Amino acid sequence: MPGSTVVIMDLPVRHPEPAPLVRGRHDAFAAAFRSIRTAIIMTDPTLPDNPIVFANDAFLQLTGYASHDVVGRNCRFLQGPETSAETVEHLRRGIAARGDVSAEILNYRQDGTTFWNAVSITPVLDDIGAVALFVGTLADVTAARERQRADRQAEQDLTARNRELESALDVQHLLVAEIDHRTKNNLQMVSAMLTLQAMSIPDPELRRTLQEMLERVDALGLVHKRLYELSQRTRFDVADFIHELLDTILGASGRRDIVVDQRLNAVVIGADQAAAVALILNEVLTNAIKHGFPSGRHGSLTVVLAAKGDRCIITIADDGVGLPTEKAVGPTFGTTLVETLARHLHAVIAWTRAQPGTVFTLDFPIKVAASS
Ligand SMILES: Nc1ncnc2c1ncn2[C@@H]1O[C@H](COP(=O)(O)OP(=O)(O)OP(=O)(O)O)[C@@H](O)[C@H]1O
Ligand SMILES: [Mg+2]
Repeated sequence: MPGSTVVIMDLPVRHPEPAPLVRGRHDAFAAAFRSIRTAIIMTDPTLPDNPIVFANDAFLQLTGYASHDVVGRNCRFLQGPETSAETVEHLRRGIAARGDVSAEILNYRQDGTTFWNAVSITPVLDDIGAVALFVGTLADVTAARERQRADRQAEQDLTARNRELESALDVQHLLVAEIDHRTKNNLQMVSAMLTLQAMSIPDPELRRTLQEMLERVDALGLVHKRLYELSQRTRFDVADFIHELLDTILGASGRRDIVVDQRLNAVVIGADQAAAVALILNEVLTNAIKHGFPSGRHGSLTVVLAAKGDRCIITIADDGVGLPTEKAVGPTFGTTLVETLARHLHAVIAWTRAQPGTVFTLDFPIKVAASS
């Protein structure tokens, strides 16, 4: 390699002959050491202060020194104020123990700039087993260390960001739970006010209307109770709800002569569809009990819930008296409410006369939000 330092020239005067390792037929090894891309130095522990006796081109390039600057000196000149004393001590102990030793150490170039040096020191033994030389290989690992540091930093940043997001999500969940809780409480208050008001109204027809309004508010209260209890607040389990609503409506009606058959498959809809579905079911179920089975008439009520593709289909069939043949004069509130809410759900609804009774079908597209 042009300009490379010949080992023989670097050897101290005490060695008039070239070191055995690089002499005669070993010249090929010497040439290889000189020109290899790995930075290599050799030190002679038999000389005072274990000085460098050989430094290859790669070492000189890495450190910025000339060969005559380094040969004859102990390699501590590579250390500087920021070099870890602990690492130096680790290397020193390894050398003193005449064993292999390696470390990553902060070294200084001739121009004062620093680099991280992955150094590995190996003793070379002579014929009688004494340490004749130490061979040190050096590698500039500054970029790799910087990358590692940057990766560690990025990982720490990511962990911190995740923690922030998690706690923000916790706060959001708490807020949603709190809003559900308050809505439920407010609906209970509305319910209590309607009950009080109903008690003070002498007109039985008006009192009945108020009572029905109260039942609608209760159905909404049930929706919010369910949403509040659920961990996933963006989704609403229809089967669970129907089950509870039937219990509530039948319980309130005091009717024990109506047998209920629930065929409920698991269907989950979006929470923002829940109130509309709940109110429709409340109207239809109330109608079936109230109109389908006037007092003295017993029978059965079948509720079927299923998903077909991305649609939810609910069928409520009673074997009661059936829809009147005479059309009611003017729109009634219950039917208007069902139709309005059905439009909101983009639902298809139908009342069919059965033999006997009435079948109501609600068929709407499921809108499920991402899980919360
Ligand atoms: N399952 C049913 N069986 C028999 N008749 C029914 C059934 N569902 C509804 N009807 C009839 O349809 C009518 C209209 O029902 P709708 O719910 O609109 O009014 P309502 O129940 O009379 O009063 P509200 O407005 O308080 O609900 C009822 O009055 C009843 O005659
Ligand atoms: Mg009604």
